[in-house]
Amino acid sequence: MIKNTLFEAIEAGSKELQKFFNGTFTVQSKGSLNDLVTEADHASEKAIFKVIQEKHPDHFILSEETGEIKQDSNYKWIIDPIDGTINFANGIPLCCVSIGVEKDGVMIMGAVYNPFMKEFFFAEKGKGATLNDQKISVSDEDNLLKSCLVTGFPYQYLDSPNGPLQIFEKLIRKAVPVRRLGSAALDLCWTAAGRFDGFYEHKLQAWDSAAGFLIVEEAGGKVTDLKGNTYNPYQPGIIATNGKIHTALQNLMNGGDL
Ligand code: IPD
Ligand code: CA
Ligand code: CA
Repeated sequence: MIKNTLFEAIEAGSKELQKFFNGTFTVQSKGSLNDLVTEADHASEKAIFKVIQEKHPDHFILSEETGEIKQDSNYKWIIDPIDGTINFANGIPLCCVSIGVEKDGVMIMGAVYNPFMKEFFFAEKGKGATLNDQKISVSDEDNLLKSCLVTGFPYQYLDSPNGPLQIFEKLIRKAVPVRRLGSAALDLCWTAAGRFDGFYEHKLQAWDSAAGFLIVEEAGGKVTDLKGNTYNPYQPGIIATNGKIHTALQNLMNGGDL
């Protein structure tokens, strides 16, 4: 039942992305100049809410553009109606809808769909992760220096020790390829699928990572906060890897050398 609702909600949201993509839509800035929200983000969110609220009117919802719709429920739906909004607004087809479902504080299901590549990532706790129904698993690279990584940068720069540019610089000075797709949910899914060996980011919100972190874990990967603690999507930092390069990446993110 939950799974059906999740699939329907993802489909409803992504139809809105397809409808508006490369067309005309309004764009507004949120907290900072380049933190954007488009008409499509709102339309996707509305379509997703309609599906969830029809099936489960008593469930809690946390969604990027609306915030919390509080309910006294064991279930919480954590929604990013478009992850990769800047890409979307520029006609770059690297964006997706991401929805995680939490039960009693534990992420039990996650789905991420990029309608432009027709890639549907899904995981259910304890049951593995799939891409378009085919099982996926993380890579087995064990040398950080030979890894292909991905990261993202916050809308407002974080000027702190071991911040985004310091870590990026250390990796780039050693010629480690570090990509920047512009969608944390896809960064996580592509790590789960073994395209990347690891992903890190300093400042995410719960809706960016809720589905993707479970997908990485279920694909056999490891996800922690920046200090190596059990991952909690309600704090900002994330390291998600194939497991084999995790300690080396974690050391680097905490001031160590490569
Ligand atoms: C953003 C993307 C980006 C990440 C930012 C997020 P949005 O989400 O996931 O990759 O670097 O931190 O805010 O704004 O496109 O939903
Ligand atoms: Ca996001
Ligand atoms: Ca978003």
